[in-house]
Amino acid sequence: KATSVPRFRALWISSLLLACNVNAQTLTHDNGSPVGDNQNSQTAGEHGSTLLQDTQLIEKLQRFDRERIPERVVHARGTGAAGEFVAVDNLSALTSASLFATAGKKTPVFVRFSTVIHPKGSPETLRDPRGFATKFYTDQGNWDLVGNNLPVFFIRDAIKFPDMVHSLKPSPVTNVQDPNRFFDFFSHIPESTNLLTRVYSDLGIPASYRTMDGHGVHAFKMVTSQGDVTYVKFHWKSLQGVKSLTRAEAAKVQGEDFNNLTDDLYAAIKRGDFPKWDLYVQLMKPKDMDKFHFDPLDATKIWPDIPETKIGTMTLNKVPDNFFESTEMAAFAPSRLVPGIEPSEDKMLQGRLFAYADTQLHRLGPNNQRLPINQSLVKIENYNQDGSGDAGKRSGDVNYQPSHQAGSPTDDPRYKSVRTPLTGSTQQTSITKTDNFSQAGNFYRALREQDKTNLIGNLASDLEQVKSPQIKQAMLSYFYKADTDYGTRLTAAVKGNLPDVQQRAIKLID
Ligand code: HEM
Repeated sequence: KATSVPRFRALWISSLLLACNVNAQTLTHDNGSPVGDNQNSQTAGEHGSTLLQDTQLIEKLQRFDRERIPERVVHARGTGAAGEFVAVDNLSALTSASLFATAGKKTPVFVRFSTVIHPKGSPETLRDPRGFATKFYTDQGNWDLVGNNLPVFFIRDAIKFPDMVHSLKPSPVTNVQDPNRFFDFFSHIPESTNLLTRVYSDLGIPASYRTMDGHGVHAFKMVTSQGDVTYVKFHWKSLQGVKSLTRAEAAKVQGEDFNNLTDDLYAAIKRGDFPKWDLYVQLMKPKDMDKFHFDPLDATKIWPDIPETKIGTMTLNKVPDNFFESTEMAAFAPSRLVPGIEPSEDKMLQGRLFAYADTQLHRLGPNNQRLPINQSLVKIENYNQDGSGDAGKRSGDVNYQPSHQAGSPTDDPRYKSVRTPLTGSTQQTSITKTDNFSQAGNFYRALREQDKTNLIGNLASDLEQVKSPQIKQAMLSYFYKADTDYGTRLTAAVKGNLPDVQQRAIKLID
């Protein structure tokens, strides 16, 4: 019988350790051999040239040259912390997900907060939605809830995402972000009015990550062990309260400390002031999905008037010892779900199910789920193998299924996806119940007077940089359509030639 690989390796490694006579404090090469001089290159004679045989110099430079991995294509600037999620109740009437099986059940978590558009070293004070991604290390595998601080998104179909991000990222000509470009894009996307109104309110610059809510944005499905489905939206409510910065405050903070959000989170956790969030859900049965004047699976919409139920509390109590190993190598994906939580048909979410795991194959490599920060508490049993970064943890020669060999892992029908009824034909059409403006109007009308003034100032400062009257007119008419007071005040605040916003707004269908 062939010796299993781990046993072979264990015996082999322990025999080497016995023989090891390198002092634990001695600097070593990557192959474990001791380094004699880490300060002076080997040279031919006193003045050189430097010798190619100096493996310490060569290895050190080679490793240094390869220290950077690609930054995330979006959400590159972030910070993370670990903690614990505690379930409030037994939710088995709603979901078979084991983390919600009993009141008081604890699940370890790692959370990464981020800005969206700006690069890895950019100021944390910039206006942007903020990422709020949580990895739950459950006893049924990892569940990633990859959300934002704002409850809606700019667009409602994943096919628009790369174009939207191109318009928001720096211009390929100047390498500078340009309102002429992103408002050009958004002037074709009236459904962005809801998100734009929120991100240009002071919510677009949180005072700290601790004082920010989080939202799953999309609907997901909660499924019971009997196959009953409920659509659900997730909402993290900050127990520190929601606090934001005005544009003027953000400019001042940026001049003093543009790592303000990371510094705040690390300082709070280090002094024992652990931030907490309650997790709430809104629930909708499949039979009720058609009862609204909007599409509940449209990511540009909230579910107003649907009550929220608290299902747990999360506390963050530890910052990573090493930023790269934890925060930078963390790989969150909306496709990483556990039994009892499934994706909805939301067209944005459907695209995200592919994009994250795909980009992580490129950013971190095929074995990214084996990195310590991403590793599941559950032992991984499957027949995927090899690839760069593989640490070779599998044993035996059955690397396929089915097999007659006893003990090789098999699938379990209890965990099949829920059956979803279908009607109609394949097609490429947009959502029919558009309702592009009413939720933005409701949001505006609910703001306090000072918050309305701040929103208009924030938005006007970017809109007035737009040179094209056509783009300006389209954008202003969307805000006018959301609320006439909002559109009128904004048009007055935008300096320069005033387009005929009212006329254009009247012509808009929605
Ligand atoms: C990060 C794609 C929409 C929240 C990312 C990344 C990609 C991506 C490629 C980088 C992942 C990595 O390198 O690990 C997309 C696509 C979208 C979309 C294609 C639309 C179709 C959204 C939406 C939300 C969101 C609607 C919020 C609900 C996040 C967050 C991160 C992220 C929080 C950072 C995760 C982390 O901290 O590592 N997205 N995204 N994205 N996205 Fe999206």
